[in-house]
Amino acid sequence: LAAAIDQVRPWLQSAGRIAMLTGAGVSAESGVPTFRDAQTGLWAHDRPEDLATEEGYRANPQRVWDWYQMRREMVRAVRPNAGHIAVAEFQARHPERLTVITQNVDGLHEAAGSPGVLALHGNLFADAWLDGCALARRPADACPVSWAEPGHPPRCAQCGSLVRPAVVWFGEGLPVDTLAAAQAAAHACEVMLVVGTSGQVWPAAGLAGSARRAGAKVIVVNPEATALDDEADALLRGPSATVLPRLLDF
Ligand code: APR
Repeated sequence: LAAAIDQVRPWLQSAGRIAMLTGAGVSAESGVPTFRDAQTGLWAHDRPEDLATEEGYRANPQRVWDWYQMRREMVRAVRPNAGHIAVAEFQARHPERLTVITQNVDGLHEAAGSPGVLALHGNLFADAWLDGCALARRPADACPVSWAEPGHPPRCAQCGSLVRPAVVWFGEGLPVDTLAAAQAAAHACEVMLVVGTSGQVWPAAGLAGSARRAGAKVIVVNPEATALDDEADALLRGPSATVLPRLLDF
């Protein structure tokens, strides 16, 4: 692993623009479970269709709301790890040189101090409206929220519209401006680092191929094989909290 890091570090040192796509693995060493780990993954115990789709929320708002509340409490209890911190410190030493594009909704890159994080899948700690305000025909954000009872999904006091987590669910589009900025960063970079993602969820996973087709070198950082390994010019088979501090130490 050390030799592989030494082999690719010059690619980064000569890169004017670096893009980094991260997934749940970059937060694993903070104690946040990933999704697809066979034993500990969130999808090992529940089905995405039940907990991460609009249909699932409409079918059982309380269950889904509780699951997101549990995830919020879990993330509140953890800290960014050495990998998040190495990225933020690199960005501080080299302003405007590294763009973080993340699939994570845990806010740990931002908590570590990374600026301008492109959060493709939204933010676990923000709320949105499931429906606009039907009665008063007002835009959703004009609804006077009533938190019916603590622990229950809040509803609009006016029309009863449910509040929902401001995260992207399966089958939903990604925030248009964020995705466009991520694609621009993928096209502009000389090196794309792909860290802690299984590369199975699109369009995020497509950013590695976009970077490669635009002439970038692609480096995958992951202890396991991923669906993006074929796009990679180098595979760094190790945990991100170990690899990133060594890789970004200039
Ligand atoms: N360092 C780096 N990578 C790690 C580490 C670690 N310490 N531990 C685990 N990993 C890797 C795993 O090998 C796996 O490849 O992190 C990856 C996590 O993959 P997933 O659980 O599939 O998470 P992710 O790729 O982020 O999922 C993408 O799927 O459910 C949706 O919206 C959700 O954003 C999520 C998307």
